[in-house]
Amino acid sequence: MSSTTPRFTQPFAASETESAAATRLIHTLALQAHPEGGYFVQTDKSFSHIIPNPFLTAPPRDPFADTAATAAATDAEGADATRTASTTIFYLLTRGSPKGHFHRNKARTMHLHHRGRARYVLLHADEWDGTPGGCRVESYIVGGGVEDGERLQWMGEGGEYKASYLLDGGDEGEGAGCLISEVVVPGFEFTDHDFLTFERLVLLVGEEKAEEMRWLVRK
Ligand code: GUN
Repeated sequence: MSSTTPRFTQPFAASETESAAATRLIHTLALQAHPEGGYFVQTDKSFSHIIPNPFLTAPPRDPFADTAATAAATDAEGADATRTASTTIFYLLTRGSPKGHFHRNKARTMHLHHRGRARYVLLHADEWDGTPGGCRVESYIVGGGVEDGERLQWMGEGGEYKASYLLDGGDEGEGAGCLISEVVVPGFEFTDHDFLTFERLVLLVGEEKAEEMRWLVRK
């Protein structure tokens, strides 16, 4: 039920100002604006547990990979040779910043719900066969209503594109938004991250669905 594909319509536009509850939470947790949308703070990075960068030898499947560029990156030694074992962030969607735009990471990410409700949209580009419009789309609601199929934990695999947007409810009327934690394994680096373009979205899901999801693509 919760993982059927809905029509992806924006439930509400971003408010000009944040609610008092959201402002309090942002200050209490020392959150900053995230380039994806929403707010975040990194709460843990395993500096004492450094591992070889697994993506130099086994990157997740990338249907858009430029093989020459990938080979050059793989040859690049030094700064990109290692990763921390994991990083953890708080991530908050609010009325003022209610969506996380489509992006992907080479690392896998475990998400853990704390409060509020949101919808996640996943594009399984890592398993896409290259047929225009043939990419599997998955969507579900995250929140405390486990009896209604809402998720408390959800995994995003490396190479999948992900977007999210705030829904009403789930925080006892406080209006602070949807607060989760994300544990990235191996640890987050911007070089493992990229945003989805509208052109790629059209290739993955076809023109009609891409138009429906355009508002989730970062401009
Ligand atoms: N998204 C998931 N984890 C992180 C992180 O540690 N830093 C940033 N900037 N974005 C993230």
